[in-house]
Amino acid sequence: MAAPTNTGAAQGVFLLICFHFFACRFSCAQQLPGTWEVVLENAGIASMHTAVTRFGNVVLLDRTDIGPSRLLLPCGRCRVDSTDTFLPAGGQDCSAHSALFDPSTRRLRPLSILTDTWCSSGQFLPNGTLLQSGGDLDGLRKLRAFSPCSFDDGQCDWMEIESPRLADGRWYATNQILPDGSVVIIGGRAAPSMEFYPPSRALRPFPFLDATRDAQMDNLYPFVHLLPDGRLFVFANVRSILYDVDTGDVVREYPVLDGGPRNYPSGGSSVMLPLEATGGYARAEVVVCGGAQYETFLHRQTDAPASTTCGRIAATDPDAAWALEEMPFPRVMGDMVMLPNGEVLIINGAQAGSQGYEMGSNPCLNPVVYRPDQPTGTRFMVLTPTEIPRMYHSTANLLADGRVLVAGSNPHYFYRFEGAFPTELRLEAFSPEYLAADKDGLRPSIKSAPEKAWYGDDFEVVVETALPLVGQMEMNLLSAPFATHSFSQGQRMVRLSVSSTVAVAEGGAPYRYRVVCKAPPDGRVAPPGYYMAFAVNQGVPSVARWVQLLL
Ligand SMILES: *[C@@H]1O[C@H](CO)[C@@H](O)[C@H](O)[C@H]1NC(C)=O
Repeated sequence: MAAPTNTGAAQGVFLLICFHFFACRFSCAQQLPGTWEVVLENAGIASMHTAVTRFGNVVLLDRTDIGPSRLLLPCGRCRVDSTDTFLPAGGQDCSAHSALFDPSTRRLRPLSILTDTWCSSGQFLPNGTLLQSGGDLDGLRKLRAFSPCSFDDGQCDWMEIESPRLADGRWYATNQILPDGSVVIIGGRAAPSMEFYPPSRALRPFPFLDATRDAQMDNLYPFVHLLPDGRLFVFANVRSILYDVDTGDVVREYPVLDGGPRNYPSGGSSVMLPLEATGGYARAEVVVCGGAQYETFLHRQTDAPASTTCGRIAATDPDAAWALEEMPFPRVMGDMVMLPNGEVLIINGAQAGSQGYEMGSNPCLNPVVYRPDQPTGTRFMVLTPTEIPRMYHSTANLLADGRVLVAGSNPHYFYRFEGAFPTELRLEAFSPEYLAADKDGLRPSIKSAPEKAWYGDDFEVVVETALPLVGQMEMNLLSAPFATHSFSQGQRMVRLSVSSTVAVAEGGAPYRYRVVCKAPPDGRVAPPGYYMAFAVNQGVPSVARWVQLLL
């Protein structure tokens, strides 16, 4: 198959850059959309894995075998590990490698993680508990659980599960919650297999990850998306398949995506675009962006330009084919974050090199937004840059207030504060343009919403706006994924069908509306668990309410 030509896209990008250049010749203080803010100067740890809990607070998680962090374990506790060669004689480590951050009050509390979570994986269970799996060394076959609490409770902490253990070592694996609320754990270094939690289904080989391994791997942290027909879209290196978990069959193989390898250590990213009630949730599109050139990692080519392309495929179409699009910047180690209005933020990373081990250079400080519904060639918009490079081991997560929390970045080992791209302890929040003050009139505010919703049932949300509504309010559900290594495991957005938006009070502002929407039909469209429910008015989201979808 010939690669689609993309002159239109390239021209669009060129015009955008030219426009920006000329605009900046005149006055360029804050020309670009979006704003940045450091929300915590010192998180004490560099978060390489980050997840937002149903209480709105954020689990930050690093690894243990990296020497002492800048945060002490609670209550004077210490971890003793004589096998950890980075600890002083006696193997005592009294520092924390995980923490809970409350973005609304900017408070931080250390959490206790005692086995090595380096390059591990995770996913929220239907009851809101974060299940976390694998890592290196003593963590390789470990499962852990964090049952979250409100920040003021101050009690919740990690629990290291003694039994069951993982059937295979999981270092650089990807987890995905399934329609029945169980979790599949896929791949990892020297682990071309998958297993399940709870382990009621046995370990099974997954040869696709053997077939996609090349000289530098490129098959780690595979991009996994649960399609609305219940099957998995799995992408590794340059290839992708449709996999039926129930039968264990590879149902189909998609065309190869051109433009170089995309998975670890080539550091691309991926999202599934919002699932739409229109058309009965039958269609799903997947986008894969960025990466490195072939063998950049193998030959330590830190200056080799990163990939500039995204591939987009309608994974549910019988004749699915990749369409290539040009990003405004090359990017490796970027994070793709679904925003509540259905746009995709691409943030963090570098413009050259590859993932890991001090192999990135030229940080990409500008996020860009990808607007999937715009015509090809006009989908990308360049956003306000940060001043803080976010290279290897950095993360990005949507918060319930619509901001995006950015954390982490390190040279890969230790807490090192000198040299190029040192350990980064600052937490930042990026506010997309929809949070700007000139959007306040449109911004919905949810006054009431149910805490639970059942598949296929109608439910009612009461929303207020400062200006009268034009048309229908959107209600969108967004999962809270487990973000690590440029991929947000379990990230999904589901647009609900809204049957009516009725004004409930006469008179002036605020304008109050009763919005009736329908919960997703089943766990294939949205696995059970807690979702952020956003009301969205003309692209401007409310603060989310957490709604639990029940089987
Ligand atoms: C959530 O479910 C998990 C797995 O079934 C269980 O271990 C955990 O105790 C549950 N947590 C709560 C808070 O019920």
